[in-house]
Amino acid sequence: MAAQGYALSLWLWLSLQLPLLQGARAATARWSGEGTTPHLQSIFLGRCAEYTTLLSLQPGNKNCTAIWEAFKVVLDKDPCSVLPSDYDLFINLSRHAIPRDKSLFWENNHLLVTSFAENTRRLTPLCDVLYGKVGDFLSWCRQENASGLDYQSCPTSEDCENNAVDSYWKSASMQYSRDSSGVINVMLNGSEPKGAYPVKGFFADFEIPYLQKDKITRIEIWVMHDIGGPKVESCGEGSVKILEDRLEALGFQHSCIDDYAPVKFLMCVDHTTHPDCVMNSASASLRRESPSFYTTGDASLVISLLVALTSASQM
Ligand SMILES: *[C@@H]1O[C@H](CO)[C@@H](O)[C@H](O)[C@H]1NC(C)=O
Ligand SMILES: *[C@@H]1O[C@H](CO)[C@@H](O)[C@H](O)[C@H]1NC(C)=O
Ligand SMILES: *[C@@H]1O[C@H](CO)[C@@H](O)[C@H](O)[C@H]1NC(C)=O
Ligand SMILES: *[C@@H]1O[C@H](CO)[C@@H](O)[C@H](O)[C@H]1NC(C)=O
Repeated sequence: MAAQGYALSLWLWLSLQLPLLQGARAATARWSGEGTTPHLQSIFLGRCAEYTTLLSLQPGNKNCTAIWEAFKVVLDKDPCSVLPSDYDLFINLSRHAIPRDKSLFWENNHLLVTSFAENTRRLTPLCDVLYGKVGDFLSWCRQENASGLDYQSCPTSEDCENNAVDSYWKSASMQYSRDSSGVINVMLNGSEPKGAYPVKGFFADFEIPYLQKDKITRIEIWVMHDIGGPKVESCGEGSVKILEDRLEALGFQHSCIDDYAPVKFLMCVDHTTHPDCVMNSASASLRRESPSFYTTGDASLVISLLVALTSASQM
């Protein structure tokens, strides 16, 4: 009896709750990507104002209101019917020159690229160009069959090709490539299990084909391995070899460096005691002779590294 009563009340509860549960699930899982970032417009306008006001690289005369208005036309479009060309006016209004030798292309290490670039002070990856900055780490899309933004989820390439965010990055990537000149730097992740160079990806499909050969002196690839992480691929191996062969066939001068030291120093800030972060072979050999002396030496090396990084970032 008790069991039957329990089963009945469970059944009643379920029949009341299921439509609600399903509704909630449908609302959160319509698409596979993050929903529109709250405060999208404020973040966009704030970043634009900061970029055009504080970063001295920026030739003035950018109208952030006009740039936002050009951008937001995609917020009125079906979330799966946004084309790269829908961002043309936005790109036209926000476009500016990229300093020679400062371009940095990358795959699979967004946060490291952001730290290393130092807000254009060291290098200028796409996310430090005005038209890339305003959308970096953000998501946006209209609701599927209604006006207004979808804050629950937005389509990714798994849902549909012509989604608002991918089309933005395609458009921005193509412009960034066309405007890059001098030495081109490429940072890849040699610890990525799927390979350092995705043969289908933004770099492969929307950047390499748009590089202007006559403006480019050479291309330098850096394959970075996570400290203590697996060395899945290095220069000359696997997908990195595919990239090197492609650049060769396209007639670019190119070179490849494993664990490019300036970037490795930055990665070592979070792994100061790891053996891979010992600064030179002299301190490594001291370790074998005198462990206690080594410990002191290591600490002072780490301090000099931090001092060097701090003063570099203040330049
Ligand atoms: C900036 O653009 C907005 C919208 O197009 C326009 O109303 C405003 O007059 C422009 N401001 C300047 C200073 O040009
Ligand atoms: C963008 O600018 C180019 C020239 O710089 C022009 O040909 C093109 O029509 C412009 N596109 C839009 C949408 O304003
Ligand atoms: C490199 O890829 C691995 C595997 O996806 C990831 O865990 C790691 O955070 C990436 N490294 C950087 C610097 O982003
Ligand atoms: C939007 O409309 C289409 C066609 O009427 C329908 O198949 C789809 O399920 C609707 N989507 C939502 C989220 O209501």
